[in-house]
Amino acid sequence: MCGIFAYLNYNVNKERRYILQVLFNGLRRLEYRGYDSAGIAIDSNSSDPIPSSSSSSVSQPPLVFRREGNIESLVKSVYQEVAETDLNLDESFSIHAGIAHTRWATHGEPAPRNSHPQSSGDGNDFLVVHNGVITNYEVLKETLVRHGFTFESETDTEVIPKLAKFVFDKANEEGDQTVTFSQVVLEVMRHLEGAYALIFKSRHYPNELIACKRGSPLLLGVKDLTENMNNASAFHDEKFLSKNDHPKELFLSSDANAVVEHTKKVLVIEDGEVVHLKDGGVTILKFDSDKGKHGGSFSRPASVQRALSVLEMEVQQINKGKYEHYMQKEIHEQPESLTTTMRGRLIRGGSHKVKTVLLGGLKDHLKTIRRSRRIVFIGCGTSYNAALAARPILEELSGVPVTMEVASDLLDRQGPIYREDTAVFVSQSGETADTLLALEYALENGALCVGITNTVGSAIARHTHCGVHINAGAEIGVASTKAYTSQIVVMAMLALAIGGDTISNEAKREATIDGLIDLPNKVREVLQLDQEMKDLAKLLIAEQSLLVFGRGYNYATALEGALKVKEVALMHSEGILAGEMKHGPLALVDENLPIVVIATRDACFSKQQSVIQQLHARKGRLIVMCSKGDAAAVSPGESCRAIEVPQVEDCLQPVVNIIPLQLLAYHLTVLRGFNVDQPRNLAKSVTTQ
Ligand code: F6R
Repeated sequence: MCGIFAYLNYNVNKERRYILQVLFNGLRRLEYRGYDSAGIAIDSNSSDPIPSSSSSSVSQPPLVFRREGNIESLVKSVYQEVAETDLNLDESFSIHAGIAHTRWATHGEPAPRNSHPQSSGDGNDFLVVHNGVITNYEVLKETLVRHGFTFESETDTEVIPKLAKFVFDKANEEGDQTVTFSQVVLEVMRHLEGAYALIFKSRHYPNELIACKRGSPLLLGVKDLTENMNNASAFHDEKFLSKNDHPKELFLSSDANAVVEHTKKVLVIEDGEVVHLKDGGVTILKFDSDKGKHGGSFSRPASVQRALSVLEMEVQQINKGKYEHYMQKEIHEQPESLTTTMRGRLIRGGSHKVKTVLLGGLKDHLKTIRRSRRIVFIGCGTSYNAALAARPILEELSGVPVTMEVASDLLDRQGPIYREDTAVFVSQSGETADTLLALEYALENGALCVGITNTVGSAIARHTHCGVHINAGAEIGVASTKAYTSQIVVMAMLALAIGGDTISNEAKREATIDGLIDLPNKVREVLQLDQEMKDLAKLLIAEQSLLVFGRGYNYATALEGALKVKEVALMHSEGILAGEMKHGPLALVDENLPIVVIATRDACFSKQQSVIQQLHARKGRLIVMCSKGDAAAVSPGESCRAIEVPQVEDCLQPVVNIIPLQLLAYHLTVLRGFNVDQPRNLAKSVTTQ
């Protein structure tokens, strides 16, 4: 849902060529957040600012490049323009502030005029990159039009730079020529409704940047070039953040992926904070919506002290390594991501057998969760499916009723959530707008709110009462794969933690714990089906549609497998609860439509055998996923194809079973010639409703 990025070098000479590279690389790292258009703004030259009528000076108008299409189209067009003009790539800047944006369109079609940076108008006095949606932009636009502003785009964002110019000009007209950049931005924020992460650049405030946020994610990365970056003892927050002449590089970004290759020292910007980068220092102000401009003077909030934290991710995590695509890499790294998810959480007893599960983030809340009237899982898309896969084991081990809510549907219905409920929010990104709003709703209703996310410091991680981080590592492919399996494993561990040590549960607990320990090996084994799935994809390449039947633990597998095929291979696919087959879907069955039936060994096996027979009797074109050694038992005829997978404990079988379907979706996409990592019309973090 749009990625924003900025790079400011201070007291260190950087050529324009280098600055462009940093901005483009930042955008490449954020491209998964949106890829229908992109843009950057850089300074036109490094010469001294021009004195202006106000006491401050003004720089030459910044150069803005905007382009429809992906980042590479932008890169190409920028270099083309550079070649056609006398812009010198070797020109050096000892201070320079550049901003960049990659877009997932919400208001206005992908086109240069709707791309960011959005501008205040001729001269590019104020430029803004934005991730989020301004809900009251129409009212603001009307007011600004009345004041003589003309609009070029259909975006909600354009009101922001224009409002900044309006505020700045007004202050100057009223004789306040000392108005600072942060005062202008604070005043702009006072008028904005909706969600945003914003970065402002202005020629009235050369070499400064302002970032602020409400709802959408944003972080600051700090690289002090006087320090050895690997030396943890050289890590002093004050030194990095206070004004000083140390040569440094500062980065603002929608997420850590675009920063980690430069520095691991970051500050996750909080809602309502305004971060001002100026003269080698970082000032953080807290926006208070109640304090506005009264009697002609701007509010001057006190600055707040914040500590930097150290990113735990490694650069390798965000590279494709030996793989062609991120989705492929992320599917194949599941044995490792699952191991990391479980690391330190399965605790051994006296006999060195794993006895218990320790989820540190929940330990003070387990009693409350056990006593809750029900557990409500809330999420969207793949995260919802993961929760659905974990629901039976949670019900079985905890004895607490578990209900499921798609976040948007809960909000649409304003469904009942009670203070006696435990609401579990499942989200890879931790930023999904629907899930976040459902969280706000559950908090208002007094429920205990638990977060299960893959993003440390994300909004859901911060706003829930407690939670578990899934530690799956950065997931960059837009289609979620490794996060899904890690989410299921975390929720299985949650079931074990809530279930406690009761005698009645003992056998199931032990089997589940043993199953968890062995799971990465089984996943390694099932990944060997890669070629088989590629062959199957070749057979299905020209199909219009694919059905996936599952039930019990593997109803979720049917939904998730179908979602993967749909979203990346752009093939219609539906996950169907096999128990519902006779109530409608059976009408679709003929000798042409391919149908995957999941029939691995568990309590539903015999029912699935009967489903297979009924589909076969109607000449269904069957692909049966079964446990190893069961191919003959489940295949009703020679035309039936079997996919044999290792058998694991029933509650963990969805982790194994989804992998052939992930591989199938991946190969189908590549063979059909579509972009696997950036499926049409989608973006990874859906930060708008
Ligand atoms: C599909 C997919 C989406 C997300 C959904 C929720 O592959 O990734 O369905 O699962 O948009 O996102 P998160 O988990 O970030 O809340």
